[in-house]
Amino acid sequence: MKVAVMGYGTIGSGVVEALEINRDSIALKLGREVDVKYVLDLRDFPGDPVQDKIVHDVSVIVNDPEVEIVVETMGGTKPAYEYVKAMLMAGKSVATSNKALVAAHGTELLHLAREKGVNFLFEASVGGGIPIVRPMNTSMTGDKIEEIIGILNGTTNFILTKMEMEGANFEDALREAQSLGYAERDPSADVEGQDACRKIAILTSIAYRHEVDYTDIYTEGVSGITPEDMAYAKKLGRSIKLLASSRKVGDRYYAMVAPVMIGPEHPLYGVRDVYNAILVKGNISGPMMFYGCGAGKLPTAGAVIADVIAAARNKGHGVMSIWDSQKLPIEPKDEMKIKFFLRLQGRLEDRADQVKAALPAEELVSLDGLDEFGVLTGSMTEAAFEKAASGLEGRISMIRVKETGVN
Ligand code: HSE
Repeated sequence: MKVAVMGYGTIGSGVVEALEINRDSIALKLGREVDVKYVLDLRDFPGDPVQDKIVHDVSVIVNDPEVEIVVETMGGTKPAYEYVKAMLMAGKSVATSNKALVAAHGTELLHLAREKGVNFLFEASVGGGIPIVRPMNTSMTGDKIEEIIGILNGTTNFILTKMEMEGANFEDALREAQSLGYAERDPSADVEGQDACRKIAILTSIAYRHEVDYTDIYTEGVSGITPEDMAYAKKLGRSIKLLASSRKVGDRYYAMVAPVMIGPEHPLYGVRDVYNAILVKGNISGPMMFYGCGAGKLPTAGAVIADVIAAARNKGHGVMSIWDSQKLPIEPKDEMKIKFFLRLQGRLEDRADQVKAALPAEELVSLDGLDEFGVLTGSMTEAAFEKAASGLEGRISMIRVKETGVN
């Protein structure tokens, strides 16, 4: 079987490498060998095993009927969207790792693939090497999904782990993540939560069968997390994770990406470094958790190859359930209930009564040598918290706190 790879960066070269490493076992599973016929890239790669397969013109792939499946690992939407569309139009299935593409154009591309009798698959776009798109699409079909909570960004999980375990500050931890190749070209997409936002939008679209506009999802990143926040979390016996979550309550849908303090009883508490995990609650099966390498060359390539095999095994038959273009209405965060940890300036002894009068305080803590303290509230809505907190002077920062796994 002939495939083409568009984009010979980290993931694309990982796909080529992994197809070689597992050539025999893939051939056994598929009944035929998989050969990379073309690699599309702007660059040449002299001395590389793919040097003779490099093409710079996408139409070479579009017009070659021998190429059945195309891997898209270019990233971004330009020109990935145009190229993927051309491949689907030409009757070729596409396997992509590109969450920006799926989050922005997934609805249209899924429908186009259905129309053309081919597959548009994107396992690697969420959770790197973790199978989550396929299980949600094909294994949890007896369930209605009630809640999804994920650590969906390896870079920020790595950064938060470094800060928690080694006392690093944000900038040093980010530099280390970049030097290890975890962060995207533009680290702001990772550290400001946009990468996780696109991923939870994709999972939520799969769960509820409507398009989720990722810009509707309230998103906070981790660039504001400080060593002091980590010290408070430690004192409270908790860990700070960037959680991407969505939830259905009655007929309403909520979604958010934000740093959250969770305790050891939470299933995501022990997820460290570049690992990702996704906790999904079905109304029949209850909570299910998926854990693995959320980023990285070979794990992500593994997910892409699984899609290539799925597309090859299902020629002429679309395996992805599609979602429609009617937007899933995401409620504003105001009515979401959660606990809050608020840092305030001043001495705890002087302000304790004032704080307790303003907020349902469960715990008050201070750190030695700092002219500030923190208050952990009981569960309350975002709107109620903001109203109460606005009456308190000297606000330093706020982090949400979650006690349980799924609700
Ligand atoms: N930058 C992403 C992450 C890569 O850190 O999770 C995988 O999508």
